[in-house]
Amino acid sequence: MSRPGQEVRLEDYKPTDFEIETVDLTFRLTPSRTIVTNRIALRRRSGGGNAPLILDGDDLTFVDLKIDDRTADSSRFSVSPSGLEIRDLPETEFFTLEIVTEIAPADNTKLMGLYRSNGIYCTQCEAEGFRRITYFLDRPDVLAIYTTRIEAPIKEAPLLLSNGNLKERGPLSEGWHYAIWHDPHPKPSYLFALVAGDLAVVRDDFTTASGKPVKLEIYVEHGKEARAAYAMDALKRSMRWDEERFGREYDLSVFMIVAVSDFNMGAMENKGLNVFNDKYVLADPETATDTDYANIEAIIAHEYFHNWTGNRITCRDWFQLCLKEGLTVYRDHEFSADTRSRPVKRIAEVRLLKAHQFPEDSGPLAHPVRPKRYQEINNFYTATVYEKGSEVVRMLATILGAEAFKSGLDLYFERHDGDAATIEDFLTCFEDATGTDLSQFSVWYHQAGTPVLTIGSRFDASGRTLTVDIEQSVPPTPGEDRKKLMHIPLRMGLFDPDGGEIRMRDVSGIDISGDVLHITDRNHTVVFQNVQARPTLSLNRSFSAPVNIRYEQSSSDLAHLARYETDTYSRWQALNDLATRELIAATGATLGGETVQCSNALIDALLSTVSDARLEPALRSQAITLPGEADIAREIGTDIDPDAIFAARSAVSDDIARHGRDAFESVVENILPGGRYSPDAESAGQRALYLSALNYLTRAALPPDALLPIFRSADNMTIMSGVLGILVHRFPGSAGAETALAEFELRFRDNPLVIDKWLAIQATIPDPGTLERVMRLMGTRHFSIENPNRVRALIGSFAAGNPTGFNLPDGTAYEFLAEQIIGLDKRNPQVAARVLTAMRSWKSLEPIRRDKARAALAVIAQQSDLSPDVRDITDRMLG
Ligand code: ARG
Ligand code: ZN
Repeated sequence: MSRPGQEVRLEDYKPTDFEIETVDLTFRLTPSRTIVTNRIALRRRSGGGNAPLILDGDDLTFVDLKIDDRTADSSRFSVSPSGLEIRDLPETEFFTLEIVTEIAPADNTKLMGLYRSNGIYCTQCEAEGFRRITYFLDRPDVLAIYTTRIEAPIKEAPLLLSNGNLKERGPLSEGWHYAIWHDPHPKPSYLFALVAGDLAVVRDDFTTASGKPVKLEIYVEHGKEARAAYAMDALKRSMRWDEERFGREYDLSVFMIVAVSDFNMGAMENKGLNVFNDKYVLADPETATDTDYANIEAIIAHEYFHNWTGNRITCRDWFQLCLKEGLTVYRDHEFSADTRSRPVKRIAEVRLLKAHQFPEDSGPLAHPVRPKRYQEINNFYTATVYEKGSEVVRMLATILGAEAFKSGLDLYFERHDGDAATIEDFLTCFEDATGTDLSQFSVWYHQAGTPVLTIGSRFDASGRTLTVDIEQSVPPTPGEDRKKLMHIPLRMGLFDPDGGEIRMRDVSGIDISGDVLHITDRNHTVVFQNVQARPTLSLNRSFSAPVNIRYEQSSSDLAHLARYETDTYSRWQALNDLATRELIAATGATLGGETVQCSNALIDALLSTVSDARLEPALRSQAITLPGEADIAREIGTDIDPDAIFAARSAVSDDIARHGRDAFESVVENILPGGRYSPDAESAGQRALYLSALNYLTRAALPPDALLPIFRSADNMTIMSGVLGILVHRFPGSAGAETALAEFELRFRDNPLVIDKWLAIQATIPDPGTLERVMRLMGTRHFSIENPNRVRALIGSFAAGNPTGFNLPDGTAYEFLAEQIIGLDKRNPQVAARVLTAMRSWKSLEPIRRDKARAALAVIAQQSDLSPDVRDITDRMLG
């Protein structure tokens, strides 16, 4: 039994002394007094001796215990809300326990375990929520077959759902009814789910590749059925794709998704019964943006893909979280890449990785993809475990090649189906299938920090050789001063002065396969023979490794790559590097009181890209979207002054807008797709380009008054919220901005998911007055501290998405956040801890802000009754 706040260590892993074979649950549901009867059949493992059985619990009220159907004498067990220890167990190999507990779903504000959301009973058990329902061996390596009987008043809960297949249902006395569900697949407790309430259903059918029929059901609040159509479509496409691409079929006769409005995260892959934050199910053109549609598609796919990578093969312990999450993120990324545009998807992935994972890896919260210790597992559902975990799987595919990668993955599915596995098990499959030694590669799982490749190159015209020096290093991270050498797959291209790609031959000093250089030593001196003219290097093509590259490259070389690279992702990367360099210099100039000017090299490169009709619009939009303020801050690294960055970025943008006015006007006039709104990737790309161009035009010619009519006539949420965002951020406090905000509020006041956009747009206004605005909005009926989506939209966006508005030099916004975290922590520790991570890069701020930030964190740390979640984050951030 693990106690909250006590450190758990990977090396302490020990299998249980007992196995649980079957679980028979009965729920008698009432909001404040739900009775749970949990009958488990146990098997003693040989060698266990007569060790006591210690079951996990959290906030439980104990009612009764029977051992082999006889009421247990109180001398045989000790019980508390957080655990049940049973001694003197029967000496037989098999025995049963029947445990009765009482819980109060209506009072469950943590949204872990069984709780109520808008009158719906629902559960969230990952990671350790099942122990808030009943005493159990609540760990992922205990797999059992579950049968669940639910009883509830028919009126209040006509719908009774759990995992697996419906076996039986019928009436009971006094207006109650029951349903019995049976899940034939052994599963860990974290995949248990129950939903009960009054919901509408949208149905469809799917036939698997081998011809088995599957009923598909999406449950939403009454009246919202039409908004589930896109999710259903995405589900069917995900199921087909997983068959075609990975040979994975669904394995039950029904697949259900339930949308609830109070949810701590995105969604949950419970066996056969996924529970979703309704934000990732509900969509129609009037209320959802293109980004919402893309997220719904990706998250529906992600949770569905977990059925194989997570459910059929689960994790031995929570240190192995990346085994299911990294792999499943990789799978959903591939799905989106196949479904939409691969390079556009890759750019978005890298932008996200750099915005969330790189800062995590370089700050106080850094941890390996597979951590070795944790205080609170809920704090490890991180960008490192998910996104870097996915990058590690992608590198494995790059190193092995597509076919060998597939054979390793097939072996994994075959060998470990039904297991609770480890990262070692996973890697061994690739070693066995391909005969490759992956011991050095495995360092990616064990070692925190973003590797750095320092690269230099020399061209010798007379000898016609290109020499490239490569050095790898990893900066120290908390608790890890010395770093091991890693196997880094670096894709690279060489381009001649005419833009042609040079074939790399006669290479010495490194292993090379295709265009992949295998960096395994600290230093490599790589020599390319027979190179006719000085080439331009394109490094880390397609972002083949999640590393930082230090390489002095001239602006003209970057512009050359932006023009001639055949790897579309890398064209964008070159432009982005060019812009980043310019923005860093501009920040320096701002701080030195000089005027900022944008170079012609950057302006030309951007404007020729934006006008290049051969490129897809989504790419053109990505190309002209400058690195954000947080990106610039990350690249500068220390002594960050967010106001200087903001000013510099604005000045550069103004310059680009002035020079590009004609180009942007032509985009705005011509690019929007005609006809009815369609969320497809191509139309979405056109809208994205339209909005980026419109944004520039507000810096050149377009007055705020011109935006209001565009906002008013928009027939879809993408354009409407996009234009609202431009108006409000570019002209904060203007009459036009406030009018648009008021009209938007009036129109969508009864749709909280849309109001979240309205809250987030306001929370991210780059203005010192935003703190006050956020405080004011907290007092309106649109905000509720009880709903995680509202908290994330208003407080989360302010802290994580408003560099100037949040990082006020007087520290008042930090104080505000500390106060909110302390209050929220008493209700919902998980959400409080997550929102607090917005301050994870506080140590890289300039000294005045840094001191204020530390003081605010210290105020949190001084609280005596913090949750383990917030305590853990605060301690590590201050540590
Ligand atoms: N397994 C879920 C998913 O990635 C997320 C669960 C998050 N749980 C948590 N305690 N934060 O799809
Ligand atoms: Zn997941």
